[in-house]
Amino acid sequence: MVNIFFKTYGCQANIADSEGLISYLQDLGCTYVRSAEEADLIMVNTCAIRAKAEQKMFTYLGEIAKLTKARPHVRIGVIGCVASYRSKELYKRFSHVNFVFGAREDIRAFHSYLMDVITSLETIKQHYADNMGNVPRPGQDGNIKKLVESKKLAGKTIRFKPGEIAYNMRKVHQQSKGPLEVQKSYINIMTGCNNYCSYCIVPFTRGREQSYSIKYIVDRVAREVTQGAKEVNLIGQNVNSYSDPDDGRSFSQLLEAVAQLPGEFWVRYVSPHPKDITIDVVETMAKYPEKLCDWVHLPLQAGSNTILEAMKRPYTVKRYMEVVGWIRKHMPKATITTDIIVGFPGENQEDYEGTRAVMEDVQYDHIFSFIYSPRKYTTAYKLGDPCPPEVKQQRLMALQKRQKEICLVRNKRLEGSIQRVLVEKRQASGKLLGRTSGNIRVNFDGDDALIGTFTQVQIDRAGIANLEGLLLHKTAEDNLANTQITR
Ligand code: SAH
Ligand code: SF4
Ligand code: F3S
Repeated sequence: MVNIFFKTYGCQANIADSEGLISYLQDLGCTYVRSAEEADLIMVNTCAIRAKAEQKMFTYLGEIAKLTKARPHVRIGVIGCVASYRSKELYKRFSHVNFVFGAREDIRAFHSYLMDVITSLETIKQHYADNMGNVPRPGQDGNIKKLVESKKLAGKTIRFKPGEIAYNMRKVHQQSKGPLEVQKSYINIMTGCNNYCSYCIVPFTRGREQSYSIKYIVDRVAREVTQGAKEVNLIGQNVNSYSDPDDGRSFSQLLEAVAQLPGEFWVRYVSPHPKDITIDVVETMAKYPEKLCDWVHLPLQAGSNTILEAMKRPYTVKRYMEVVGWIRKHMPKATITTDIIVGFPGENQEDYEGTRAVMEDVQYDHIFSFIYSPRKYTTAYKLGDPCPPEVKQQRLMALQKRQKEICLVRNKRLEGSIQRVLVEKRQASGKLLGRTSGNIRVNFDGDDALIGTFTQVQIDRAGIANLEGLLLHKTAEDNLANTQITR
């Protein structure tokens, strides 16, 4: 029996990739363990979006080197976005890393390779049994695709299309998350990105856009809902350029097909693009409120037309506000969240104030805000990083401080309301954690049996990041008996 452990950094695309691989490895008979110390195969799924994200991952990689001393048989792999563009450096800098496989490479080759790794780990574990300290430390495998093509592998080569893998998310969740957590599923509806925003490394790490077919996505959602998933997350870097490879159906048609599936589950998605989103997406969301969550994450990046142009984000503040208007009109209770970058090269005080003005106009429920981080290969890289660090820091802090005030006002509106929440888990505080359809956290008292169910909570206090409430149904049975939805 081979034990596997994944450390996943980055966005939901990485979560989806890790879960797909965990599921594949479990189908090969592996067991997911809760710590790297117990694992025979450790995979680090990496993010390159900002220098800090990379740095964190490099530190972790350094830390796990010691695990190979007592257990030399352990295989360590680096996958994902950093692996896509720094593989040589990773091999050179970390001699304990056995393989590197990038996010844009052919997954079928990787599956064949992993099958071989597992076969070899099984053999080693049988052969050395209680003498694992004597196993010779395996070397580095270089270019995985070439290795697979050369057929110098012990295992068999398999032929899967990405969509054909026998995913079994129930196993992923039981083993990696523990029984007392709601089952969420993360499904890539497309990979890659063609937008080349001038600051962004994703098109380089994940390659060109490629959509999966609605048939495959719908089948997978149906299967995972049958297996217990209560929240389905559809993932793409720009979901509005989704196009079914078989018949060209659009993202709103995909949403509609998923929303029509039977079962009690919620659907969320990230991220739409303000240049491409069409009103039918908002109309479809409004049409299926029981399934399609009341939440739109609409990345702004900057509230100045000059900076948006320099960022190669081809929309204006006016167009962005038009999209916000559609959401406010068709989904009046929806939460809106966003991503904002401060300190992009050339951003002056007036540009920054433009961003602040959009924040005031939209009244976001939450923002993810970042200091611009120059990334090699991107077109903005050659502009340097002219905005002084203290200015960037000050802009970020002021913006975050104001956003906290806005969050409090937004959340206060929910005091006294009854919210339908999906119960996620028990927190260290002893309270249950639930989330509203708008993705707002709710703390309340209740039984473990409620975890993974939908229930009603009366909101009696709102804070900046959490709501506090009172459970309206005491048991999971009561909850099942009540199907009324309050929004
Ligand atoms: N595809 C999504 C973004 C994915 S990356 C979209 O277009 O909205 C998530 C967020 O990271 C981006 O929205 C952006 O705000 C931030 N980001 C990307 N590159 C960055 C960089 N070089 N420096 C700082 N933040 C960055
Ligand atoms: Fe990056 Fe822009 Fe693509 Fe988003 S749309 S992943 S920010 S290039
Ligand atoms: Fe990071 Fe790659 Fe996602 S760079 S944000 S993990 S697409």
